Amino acid sequence: MTVAVITGASAGLGREFLAALPELYPEIEEYWLIARRREKLEEAARSVPVQCRIFPLDLTDDESYRKLADYTAKIRPDIRLLINNSGCGFLGNVGEGELANQTVMIDLNLKGLTAVTHTLLPYMDYGAAIINVSSIASFCPNARMTVYSAGKAYVTAFTYGIGEELRERGITATAVCPGPMDTEFITLGGIKGNSKTFDVLPYCDPKKVARGSLKAARKGKSNYTPRLFYKLYRGIAKVLPVEVVMKMSKT
Ligand SMILES: NC(=O)c1ccc[n+]([C@@H]2O[C@H](COP(=O)([O-])OP(=O)(O)OC[C@H]3O[C@@H](n4cnc5c(N)ncnc54)[C@H](OP(=O)(O)O)[C@@H]3O)[C@@H](O)[C@H]2O)c1
Repeated sequence: MTVAVITGASAGLGREFLAALPELYPEIEEYWLIARRREKLEEAARSVPVQCRIFPLDLTDDESYRKLADYTAKIRPDIRLLINNSGCGFLGNVGEGELANQTVMIDLNLKGLTAVTHTLLPYMDYGAAIINVSSIASFCPNARMTVYSAGKAYVTAFTYGIGEELRERGITATAVCPGPMDTEFITLGGIKGNSKTFDVLPYCDPKKVARGSLKAARKGKSNYTPRLFYKLYRGIAKVLPVEVVMKMSKT
């Protein structure tokens, strides 16, 4: 049974990955959908003409990785595509507001993504692909979203690292680095209306991001950054001193 796994399949970009899969990866026979909200996952599963299994799991919780490992060991799927998309981002300085808003970004965006990848990799083989959803925030530290941007720098670096580790096994890894998208993310994170930078930056269309990411993964690209504006930003962030880029990119 060939399988695609999508974390964060209940909303936003994850739903768009799901919607694009039947056309762009028609060879995949079953989708595994992971997120916390069961009803949203059930609704997502009904929206596609492909068999789905839903996994209502909190990916900040170690128990969830054990459940996923046990289940996968029983089924022994042939995972062709792993999309690590679950993520959250809170606006606010370190040392202010709730501690949980800072630590949840580490637990979900770094620990969860690493644990899911580690757990599922034994079921991936030649020709399989991993898509890790990072962000333009990974290009340079963003003040007021320090933990988020440092965490996404990890996601991008982790993706390049495993891409190299997996080269001989013929498995590719693609870091997806979108700019702002109008999803639940910016409301839940207290970003909407509270960041001048987010107000003026060009937004990315999640539909286009999902489709572009799947095409980039098919080609085995290590990075997919949508929109020319953000491709240029990525280049600028590589050559200018970090202090200068941080001033430009403060959230
Ligand atoms: N929106 C942006 O401006 C933006 C920009 C760049 C990158 N990104 C990245 O894009 C990815 C998708 O975000 P989005 O914009 O689509 O946001 P979203 O609409 O808020 O979706 C986030 C997804 O993650 C899931 N999730 C949240 N907490 C979880 C947990 N503890 N365990 C398991 N799943 C969890 C959510 O489902 P449940 O609530 O049902 O668990 C949801 O399906 C994230 O990695 C984000 O960092 C977003």
